[in-house]
Amino acid sequence: MDKIVIRGGRRLRGEVAVEGAKNAALPILLASLLTADRCVFHNLPHVVDVGTTLKLLADLGARVEDDASGVSVHAERLARLEAQYDLVKTMRASFLALGPLLARFGRARVSTPGGCAIGSRPVDLHLEGLQKMGARCRIVHGYVEAEAERLQGARIYLDVPSVGATEHLMMVATLAEGTTTIEHAAREPEVVDLAHALTAMGARITGAGEDMITIEGVPALHGLDFSILPDRIEAGTFMIAAAITNGDIYVRGARAEHLHAVILKLREAGVEIKEDADGIRVIANGRLSSVDIRTMPYPGFPTDLQAQMMAAMSLADGRSVISETIFENRFMHVLELNRMGADIKVEGNTAIVRGVAMLSGAPVMATDLRASVCLVLAGLAAEGVTEVARVYHLDRGYAHIEDKLSALGADVRRVQER
Ligand code: EPZ
Repeated sequence: MDKIVIRGGRRLRGEVAVEGAKNAALPILLASLLTADRCVFHNLPHVVDVGTTLKLLADLGARVEDDASGVSVHAERLARLEAQYDLVKTMRASFLALGPLLARFGRARVSTPGGCAIGSRPVDLHLEGLQKMGARCRIVHGYVEAEAERLQGARIYLDVPSVGATEHLMMVATLAEGTTTIEHAAREPEVVDLAHALTAMGARITGAGEDMITIEGVPALHGLDFSILPDRIEAGTFMIAAAITNGDIYVRGARAEHLHAVILKLREAGVEIKEDADGIRVIANGRLSSVDIRTMPYPGFPTDLQAQMMAAMSLADGRSVISETIFENRFMHVLELNRMGADIKVEGNTAIVRGVAMLSGAPVMATDLRASVCLVLAGLAAEGVTEVARVYHLDRGYAHIEDKLSALGADVRRVQER
C-alpha cells in the first residue's frame, strides 16, 4: 500500500485544473446499460472508482474501449445481469447498476452495498422506489434479486433527498410506462448532469435540480456523446488547500455556481476569492478566522468537503462548530488531526474545533476518501513531515493529487510501502 509523504510549510501558488466529477461519472457510465447503442464519454476523471465502474460494465458483457478521445461503452448484448459482491463492496455506486439492468432486461441481481466507514448507507429508498414502479425485489444471500415485466411510472416521495436514490430512480423511470415524479429529490449538480446525459439519450425529464423531478417514460433510449461536468468537490478541495497554506491558487474549471456555500464560508474565514468564466482564484493572506459549518443537502455546504474544511479550521483563529447532518460517522479524521496537534472535541454529530497556532507532522492513517485528503491538507500546513498511509482511499476520488500539489509548490511525494 502506498503512502503520501509531505513536508509542510510551503505556500501553494499557481494553477490547477479540475477533472470531471467522479460522482457524476459513475451514474452516467451506468446509464449506458439503458441502451443497445454505443455511448461515448469525455472528461472522465482518472480515478480508481471510474476504473471500477468500467470493469463492472465489461464484467456484465458491455464492450468498453478507452482511447485518447474518450471512453466508449456499448451494452448491446450482455453476458450476465449480475453485479458481483466484490465489485459492489469496493464501490457502493455499483449498486446503481440494478435499476438500468432491470429496466432494460426485466431482471437483475446485484449485491447490496453494505455499510462503509462513514455510515450504514442503507438503500431502502432505492428499493421502495423500484417497488412502487412495479419491481418485485427480494434480498437473498446479500443480493437484491429484482424482476419486472414492464415498470410503471409512479409518484415517489423520498424521506431523505438521497443523491443515489434520486439518480437510481430517475434512470429507471426513463424506460417505465407512463409518468414518474420524484418528490424531495436531491438537487446536486451531479444529479442534473445525469439528467442532461439521459436527456441526450432521448429521455424526457423536467425539474432536475429542483425538489420535484418528472420523467415521462419512453420505449427505448439511444446512444450519446457526452462530457462530464467539472468536479466541484475536487475544486473545493484545492480552494481549501490555498486557504490552509496561505496560498494563491487558480482552480481552472471550477464553477462558482456549484460552490456557492463553500465560497461564502471561505470568504467569511477571511479568504479572497475571485470568480471568472473559466475558474476561481483563491488568495489567502494571514491566519484564517474560525467559521461554523453545517453540512446539508445541496445547495447547502457539501458533506464531501466537511473534513477538508475541518483541517483548515484546526489552524484558524477562534472556535469553529462543525455539524455533520448527512452521515452518522464522518468524523474519523478527527482523531488523526488531533494526533497532529489539533484541538477538536466530538459531541454526537458535532465537532468543536479550537484553532491552534500550529500542527505538527505525524504518521497518520486514512479511513475514507475525504478523510484522507483532509490529512493531506493538514500535512501541507503542518510543521515537519506527515505520512498519510492507505492512500488507496485517496486514489478512489483524486487523480494524481501528489503531482498536482507538487506543481503548486508542495513538498509531497508518493512512496511505495513494502
Ligand atoms: C452520494 O452518496 C455521493 N457518492 C457521496 O460522496 C456523498 O457524500 C453523498 O451522495 C451525499 O452528498 C456518489 O455520488 C457516488 P445519499 P449516496 O444517498 O448517494 C441516507 C464521496 O466522498 N439514505 O445522498 O450514497 C444515507 O444513509 C462520496 O465522493 C437512506 O437513508 O448518498 C445518508 O444518511 C461519499 N436511505 C443520506 O441518506 C437510502 O436508501 C444521504 O445519502 C439512501 C440514502
